[in-house]
Amino acid sequence: MPIDNPILVIGATGKIGSRVADRLADNGHPHRAVSRSTAPVFDWEDPAGWARAMEGMHSAFVTYVPDLAVPGAPEIIERFATTARAQGLRKIVLLSGRGEHGAELSEDRVRRSGLDHVIVRASWFNQNFDEGQLLPSVLSGTLALAADDRLEPFVDADDIADVAVAALLDERHTSETYEVTGPRLMTFADVAREISAASGLDVTYIPLSVEDFHAALLPVIGKDDADLLANLCAEVFDGRNEWLGDGVQRALRREPRDFADYLRTAIANGAWQQAA
Ligand SMILES: NC(=O)c1ccc[n+]([C@@H]2O[C@H](COP(=O)([O-])OP(=O)(O)OC[C@H]3O[C@@H](n4cnc5c(N)ncnc54)[C@H](OP(=O)(O)O)[C@@H]3O)[C@@H](O)[C@H]2O)c1
Repeated sequence: MPIDNPILVIGATGKIGSRVADRLADNGHPHRAVSRSTAPVFDWEDPAGWARAMEGMHSAFVTYVPDLAVPGAPEIIERFATTARAQGLRKIVLLSGRGEHGAELSEDRVRRSGLDHVIVRASWFNQNFDEGQLLPSVLSGTLALAADDRLEPFVDADDIADVAVAALLDERHTSETYEVTGPRLMTFADVAREISAASGLDVTYIPLSVEDFHAALLPVIGKDDADLLANLCAEVFDGRNEWLGDGVQRALRREPRDFADYLRTAIANGAWQQAA
């Protein structure tokens, strides 16, 4: 791809978007990093503003918030792709979630959009534990989730961003769907034990029923987010994701980072110091 093909990075202050934008900046590749707090603004809830953010762009890295699994997301993604085509964009790289029916519907809208596309379908992120929604749980010492003893191949945000940037910059990835996971299946009890051993914190995993999980979330994060997280856990922690993907290996021709590598980096960067 010629160097002057600028890339729109949506969700650019988030865990993945910020890493994608940083990599493009390091490559000297022109890009526009957007979210609700940038100029120009990009807000999923304000489609009238999308075209302005897309002006002059060649491709888009798409983080959809709150989640591609929420009702209405496929229609919004289709509208986004239609606007993108009208604005002259050529390619979408979509960040998706693994094993989520709603996300697969959104992926299909992108595949049928007529745009070049790559789907980056990720397992649960390592960085949920130090940058994301599970940070308060880790700091409190209680990781309570409706995940039973299910196995999850946690993936590193740096690997996802590396795959996304390769997909954005190299045409050989066009039309691929990459199942990006880490190299190891882990329970949340394994995660709690490994975070505890590496950080000195005392973190315990407590498996909850979906109903108890929802009830615990409700006063903390409100109904919409509680519904989303509880439904997500009920859907993806039924065994469907208990296998390793090969997306990192196929896209980057290297192995994904292990959770232990993530812990070393996170701790070196000061993760969980608030608890000290
Ligand atoms: N966490 C996981 O384990 C996991 C696994 C698989 C897939 N995913 C998918 O990954 C995506 C989340 O990515 P992430 O974790 O990198 O995000 P994140 O860290 O939660 O950050 C969200 C980003 O989106 C922006 N944003 C929030 N509301 C917005 C809106 N209405 N319009 C436009 N931008 C908005 C935020 O910036 P502003 O607040 O400035 O707008 C921020 O840049 C979701 O689609 C999720 O389904 C997550």
